[in-house]
Amino acid sequence: MKIKKIDFLTLKDFDRDDLIELVDLAGVVKKNPGKYKKVLKDKNIALLFDKNSTRTRLSFEAGISQMGGNAIYLDSKSLQLSRGENYSDTAKIFSGYLDGVVIRTFDHKIVEIFAESSSIPVINGLTDSYHPCQILSDLFTIKELGLLKPDLRLTYLGDSNNVTNSLMIGLSKMGIKITIGCPAEYSPNPSIIDYCSKIDGSNVILENDPVKAARDADIIYTDVWFSMGDADSKDKINKLSPYQVNKNITGHAGSDVKIMHCLPAHRGEEITSDILDGKNSVVFQQAENRLYAQKALLIYIYKRL
Ligand code: CP
Ligand code: NVA
Repeated sequence: MKIKKIDFLTLKDFDRDDLIELVDLAGVVKKNPGKYKKVLKDKNIALLFDKNSTRTRLSFEAGISQMGGNAIYLDSKSLQLSRGENYSDTAKIFSGYLDGVVIRTFDHKIVEIFAESSSIPVINGLTDSYHPCQILSDLFTIKELGLLKPDLRLTYLGDSNNVTNSLMIGLSKMGIKITIGCPAEYSPNPSIIDYCSKIDGSNVILENDPVKAARDADIIYTDVWFSMGDADSKDKINKLSPYQVNKNITGHAGSDVKIMHCLPAHRGEEITSDILDGKNSVVFQQAENRLYAQKALLIYIYKRL
């Protein structure tokens, strides 16, 4: 019997037990670097990217190679896609040659079309709407910090974007409260808040006052104010300035508050360098963990096929 392929498009498709399994597996991978050397033997996995990437690209390329597979990086501009070949046809072609694809693109519909039109697993390496690989990895980092528990107080400060969406979903799935500190104009998409509100144990709080949002937080998480594809705006900078993660704002959190950022950071904009490089920052541990989380995801997908 052919086993149904697993796509990883958003965290919506995974329940709490799946996420716990993946997070635990990332820990096993980190402790046993040599253990999974053959999981991807003879497998060719493409990375089809429309946007720049350092961590996602490298963690998948290195992870695939470390598990015996072959990663093929494809800048979409060099494919016939850029001359109008459609995604559905392209997905069918990929299915004939490859064993999987990681896609980084703009419109989330593209990864959905790819997943529907192909017979190979499709992994979302970031769209305008979601960044599930990042948050899967972040759940692992939070677990390493000993904080993945229902009474965690995590505050996200700044622009509501793809990372925010996936963070809200990921924490809600784990039954953990999340506070979003942002101006009303840059609030998260209501449909994501609505989705989260229906998850057992979820609690998404919107707080327009940055000091109240940061107060007593165990973790403060931020991301850039201008995501890839966003237009620059002085007005947005002015409105988000009070939500900058700096000495003043972190002073309202617990003294042991951990600072998270998915990176890349715009130092001096959403976060100051003293905080990013400070003793409470876990951002480089967070970035390294992408490798273990991506390997765990690939093991989870391919061990069943
Ligand atoms: N955090 C993250 O996805 O980084 P890259 O854009 O470098 O892949
Ligand atoms: N929100 C950012 C995340 C980068 C990893 C962006 O989409 O550019």
